[in-house]
Amino acid sequence: MLGLNYSFMMAETIGQKGITGRKLESFRVKALEALEEIKRKRYPGLAFTELPWQDVSSVKEAAKRLKELDYFLLLGIGGSALGPKCILESLSPFHNQRRDGKGPKVFIYENVDPSTLRSILASLDIKKTGINVISKSGGTSETVASFMILYEMLEKSIGREAAGRFVLTTDPEKGDLRKLASEGMSSLPIPPGVGGRYSVLSPVGLLTAEVIGVDSEELLAGAKEAHEKCLACNFWENPAIVAATLYYVMQRDEGRSIDVLLPYADRLKSFSDWFCQLWSESLGKQGKGLTPYPSVGTTDQHSQVQLWMEGPEDKVVTFLRVEDYEADFAIPDVFGQYEGMSFLRGQTLAGLIKAEEEATELALAKAGRPNMAITIPKIDAYHLGHLFYFFEVVTVLTGHFLGVNPFDQPSVEEGKKLTFGLMGKKGFEDKKREVVQARDKKSQFTI
Ligand code: PA5
Repeated sequence: MLGLNYSFMMAETIGQKGITGRKLESFRVKALEALEEIKRKRYPGLAFTELPWQDVSSVKEAAKRLKELDYFLLLGIGGSALGPKCILESLSPFHNQRRDGKGPKVFIYENVDPSTLRSILASLDIKKTGINVISKSGGTSETVASFMILYEMLEKSIGREAAGRFVLTTDPEKGDLRKLASEGMSSLPIPPGVGGRYSVLSPVGLLTAEVIGVDSEELLAGAKEAHEKCLACNFWENPAIVAATLYYVMQRDEGRSIDVLLPYADRLKSFSDWFCQLWSESLGKQGKGLTPYPSVGTTDQHSQVQLWMEGPEDKVVTFLRVEDYEADFAIPDVFGQYEGMSFLRGQTLAGLIKAEEEATELALAKAGRPNMAITIPKIDAYHLGHLFYFFEVVTVLTGHFLGVNPFDQPSVEEGKKLTFGLMGKKGFEDKKREVVQARDKKSQFTI
């Protein structure tokens, strides 16, 4: 279960720069309206709220086959890669270096940087590799291009068996990957209404979870609990409503449009990256939006905190605290003659990281910088599922307050179309002309 402490967002604690309880209360009607829309699944994009109840047997089946191989390679980008990457790095850190590692080594190729692909290929044996191609649309150039390359490579290496090494995770009806699946390649469905950045709890993330030995049902169980909590109609007891209202009001009334997500756990660093896509693509449109800022504590205390304390008053910091790190190291009784070290003797690393987190919250508050803290008991599949679902609901609610559609991404699509034009895809000739014209203009300002 997740806890939210927002005292350092409130006027009662940080003074004028905080928000009054009264102002929050004035959002009750609007927030409950938004909640009603979610409950009634008013928009197709809300299909993600049904994911916790999906049947995972086909995911488990596919994972069983993939686990017999030595390597697992995931091809995808954006929402088709950030979720699985977060699951991998949060739940099986240093996965490929583990001496006790069971199951395949895992690689995620989420870009079309050729040198990265070369490095990945140098680290695995293609003959012993299973490949998960993830694309909701089935037509994203980056993913499709790397799929084509890997397919040919595998075919050259193992012949006809190559097709059996792929699992295509895609729309159940549309797109080229679905067509290939209907010709016999193994596949998993991403439900129609579930968009890329809301898809982590679909087969997009669940297959990677199972391949690395994580029970996907645990992720879903955590999401179910978040569903109960985030869709509860009591404003003050619903952490998703309170958090969304705080983010929105801080931007509207205080000009705080940058949201720093600051987990005090290396394993949650990629959770910040996952959140960044969710927040940016869902909320940034029509001249509106909130800017996410990925971070990690304590590391960024020594890199960014100066700016957050004394720089422009445009940020809200959200701490992500972990109660139990499930590991600890006592700081031994050595070098006691040095003052800078003696006070640490007999304490632990978990004690230190928690102290740093608490101290940073207060230091920011003392400087009048609003911050809130989300606490999870530990980093496991259950609580990660809970966190994913929580932030998805917070995003939809914040989108409602801002008056934007949190499920589309028109500008991502435009970039995709211009690339199609440049790469010669049929039907996108006018897009190519646009890029060429822009090139001419750009050349005037080249030094
Ligand atoms: O959230 C989104 O919809 C996007 O960021 C997509 O995830 C990304 O563009 C990849 O698209 P696709 O899964 O269709 O390949």
